[in-house]
Amino acid sequence: MTDPQLWWYVARASGLVAWAAMTGSVLWGVLLATRVLRSIDNPAWLQDLHRWLGGTALIMAGLHMLSLMLDGWTHFSLTEIFVPLAAAYRPWPVALGIVAFYLLAAVYGSSLLRPKMPRRLWKALHYGSYISVILVSFHAGWSGSDVGAWGYRLVAFILLGLTTVAVLVRVLTSTAATPLPPPPQAAPAQPMTVTATYPLTREVLGIDLSRQGGTELPVWTPGAHLTLQLPNGLVRCYSLCGDPADRSRYRIAVHLAAPSRGGSAWLHANAVPGKILDVSGPDNHFMLEPAEDYLFVAGGIGITPIKAMIEALPAHRRWRLVYIGRSRATMAFSRELKQRWPQHVSVYARDETGVRPDLARILDGTTAAVYCCGPASMTEELATLVPAPRLHIERFTPAPQQPYPPRRAFEVTCRRSNTHVHVSEHQSLLDALERAQLPVHSSCREGICGACQVGVIAGQPQHLDSVASEEDKDRAGVIYPCVSRSHTTSLTLDL
Ligand code: FES
Repeated sequence: MTDPQLWWYVARASGLVAWAAMTGSVLWGVLLATRVLRSIDNPAWLQDLHRWLGGTALIMAGLHMLSLMLDGWTHFSLTEIFVPLAAAYRPWPVALGIVAFYLLAAVYGSSLLRPKMPRRLWKALHYGSYISVILVSFHAGWSGSDVGAWGYRLVAFILLGLTTVAVLVRVLTSTAATPLPPPPQAAPAQPMTVTATYPLTREVLGIDLSRQGGTELPVWTPGAHLTLQLPNGLVRCYSLCGDPADRSRYRIAVHLAAPSRGGSAWLHANAVPGKILDVSGPDNHFMLEPAEDYLFVAGGIGITPIKAMIEALPAHRRWRLVYIGRSRATMAFSRELKQRWPQHVSVYARDETGVRPDLARILDGTTAAVYCCGPASMTEELATLVPAPRLHIERFTPAPQQPYPPRRAFEVTCRRSNTHVHVSEHQSLLDALERAQLPVHSSCREGICGACQVGVIAGQPQHLDSVASEEDKDRAGVIYPCVSRSHTTSLTLDL
């Protein structure tokens, strides 16, 4: 034990560093997953630190194994070092270390492949890191380390205890008998007064809305939208485009669609100061996530959520805006944005350039987070150019489903109302819920606006909406029943 051979010391040091880095990476990962650190302005480096600690643990574990083979005293064979229970020396503690190494390699490998693998598989593999760090602590405590063995053992038992408590809490809180918390109600519509209107272009009308009595409005975040329930029965969503710090009014910009399906035409004709409108929200399905560098791409009226994002960015943040439209005369806020941020804003008017700018060239070499709101041709092209984790899209029209999956009938249990609903292959889930007198707010009925969001308690939804990114769909635990269906034969909804 006291033989001062070099490789023995390397084995001890690398084992200690691997254990510390692995424990640090797991604890850091827990803080990130529970979003304790989300309020910090830019947590991209925190993710990097989590990955870096995991990578260091893996390299050090590899060095630990190599040095145990090279050391003249332990002299493990290749088989003993890689095959659990093959070692003659303390086979069980050594086996725990070997299994922990494989688990760590699987976890780290899954992190590298995360963009390419289903989120559920990545998550399941990631849970292996908890087991890995417990196994390593037991391995270190019982495999013969002469330094701090009791410390390792203590950590192992603490981790095991905490994990057991966490599993018990998880199991107990997910049992059917547990009463549900109050339903996540869609905010009820409230009457709001049109306080000002102003033409932003020939086709875009700016509308300011305030509470009756002038009381302060709820806080909203860039990317949020209001849902207007118009007197003609139509429900329409409009992105907020004012200053998020201004709590006295909401500002929206309404593009007169040609042809209008009735919403924008009604507002252009009837929204005058003093008019009362029923408004719900703000809701946000297009959140601005922290990043070091942003590239905003806006097409036409898609500038509205993007403008709010730009307004809210800290002054030191790196960003660029590519704003594309038919002509400057039709592009709301183009002059204002160019005047305020001439170095950051590029305006491409097709009547000046003749062609749409080459998005592939604009994106060439960038590693920025890309936020896009615009027509389908623009969003679909970006979807082929930008890796999914970096791309954030708000669409005007539903994303294409390729191939469009066959529709199958399924059963739905609505937990709160204790109602069972059959959804045939010929009807949408939203239609079936409405027929069963289960009220669900809806607006676009195309899976774009997010108004019909319902929580999922059990079953596997078949997400066909264009609200959430592919990455976020399963994580959110919600379904948009106007278009989405079920992979499983039954779903349980929080309704
Ligand atoms: S109603 Fe718009 S997403 Fe369902």
